[in-house]
Amino acid sequence: MNEKKSSDSFTLTNNQTGDSFDFPILKGTVGPAVIDIRKLYADTGYFTYDPGFTSTGSCESRITFIDGENGILLYRGYPISDLAENSNFPEVCYLLLYGELPGPAEMKQFSHDITYHSMVNEQMNYFLRGFRRDAHPMAVMCGMVGALSAFYHDSTDINDIQHRLVSSHRMIAKMPTIAALAYKYTLGQPYVYPRNDLKYSENFLHMMFATPCEEHEVNPVIARAMDRILILHADHEQNASTSTVRLAGSSGANPFACVSAGIASLWGPAHGGANEAVLNMLEEIRTIENIPAFIERAKDKTDPFRLMGFGHRVYKNFDPRSQVMQRTCHEVLESLGIENEPLLDIALELERIALEDDYFIEKKLYPNVDFYSGLIFRALGIPTSMFTVLFAVARTVGWIAQWNEMVEDPTQKIGRPRQLYNGAKNRDYLPIENR
Ligand code: SDX
Repeated sequence: MNEKKSSDSFTLTNNQTGDSFDFPILKGTVGPAVIDIRKLYADTGYFTYDPGFTSTGSCESRITFIDGENGILLYRGYPISDLAENSNFPEVCYLLLYGELPGPAEMKQFSHDITYHSMVNEQMNYFLRGFRRDAHPMAVMCGMVGALSAFYHDSTDINDIQHRLVSSHRMIAKMPTIAALAYKYTLGQPYVYPRNDLKYSENFLHMMFATPCEEHEVNPVIARAMDRILILHADHEQNASTSTVRLAGSSGANPFACVSAGIASLWGPAHGGANEAVLNMLEEIRTIENIPAFIERAKDKTDPFRLMGFGHRVYKNFDPRSQVMQRTCHEVLESLGIENEPLLDIALELERIALEDDYFIEKKLYPNVDFYSGLIFRALGIPTSMFTVLFAVARTVGWIAQWNEMVEDPTQKIGRPRQLYNGAKNRDYLPIENR
């Protein structure tokens, strides 16, 4: 990539020695500029220190941009609200992968390519049988996706652009199939093959809910809601799971192994696992009267409880995705005729109270993408244990787009952070009889 050189530089002065060091400032198209510290250690003998990378840019990217202060999220420059309203998930996949919205011919070809990669090798069914039936679906996803490189070894040469194209299409196409396999396996039901006559989200829901016993028509309202949810979760800059995929990929690991690492990271309750944790929290709160006690627990530093679905490393204003999610939640409940959803009442009251509470206002804690998604999934008949699996299905295109961008970036190196060491200094070994 051509870094955007700037005449500006940042001078760092060591107050102990009086030495000064200049580091170039690189500016992007929008968002904060960066101080290029790649020569810092060589010039100064010092590392930077930034656990959690709160102030560290790990790469240059053109895919997604977040303005956390103003609640803005752009996929290749297009606002997420526009895409959620007007686009569809396969088209957003094309946009994230190739940088532009497709024309009709490009979209037709891309849809064909994804559709005709949607089946998985039949041998994967035997691999699946190694899991317990009560295994958490995310554990199954980690294993099954990591195993893809054992079945599709013909597209793992990351330096071959055709291999990267095929493995990218395979990943996007097969994730819904594997997710539905994992779900059916836990139910003890036979799995349902993908169908080439169905669109992506319809196909996913059909594989999740159809059985060989009768015809299964996917409700178009549910299919549209699923498609919109997949769009909202597709990519999000250098979040924990995407950074995991990039770091794994920086060693030259194959894309299937990298995505499997991303799934493992996403599973954490502080990240993609939060949608499952939100539902469990709402069920634990149980009544509106119990909300104040949970708000106090969330504020109590001695209590590990946090308000799941609230807060974000980047958004210090509303998460634009949660606004679309809230609207979608009301639409889905209304279209399904679900008038009485007590957990939604609790969620709405919890949001109202939290947003008026000084603690949440001062710390800029707003509902994030996970706060409402679980309520929609529950209304769609999806079990809580599958919520993060759906997040992984959506985020796969983001992981793959970012992985491709990293592989194609001539400046990329293997990721190898340093540390501040506070362990024992050099000491002599003592034989056990002398200890
Ligand atoms: C996702 O990065 C991404 O883009 C992620 C994601 C994506 O699309 O990839 O957007 C998806 O992961 C959304 C986040 C889902 N996680 C949750 O909803 C879990 C609950 N939220 C928190 O765990 C937390 O807010 C994080 C992990 C999301 C963000 O943590 P940070 O940025 O490290 O912030 P922090 O923990 O330093 O919190 C700042 C302060 C702390 O208080 P002080 O130490 O300053 O006194 O706010 C407090 C925290 O204790 N705080 C909360 C809180 N979140 C932060 N207090 C109560 N409840 C919360 N939810």
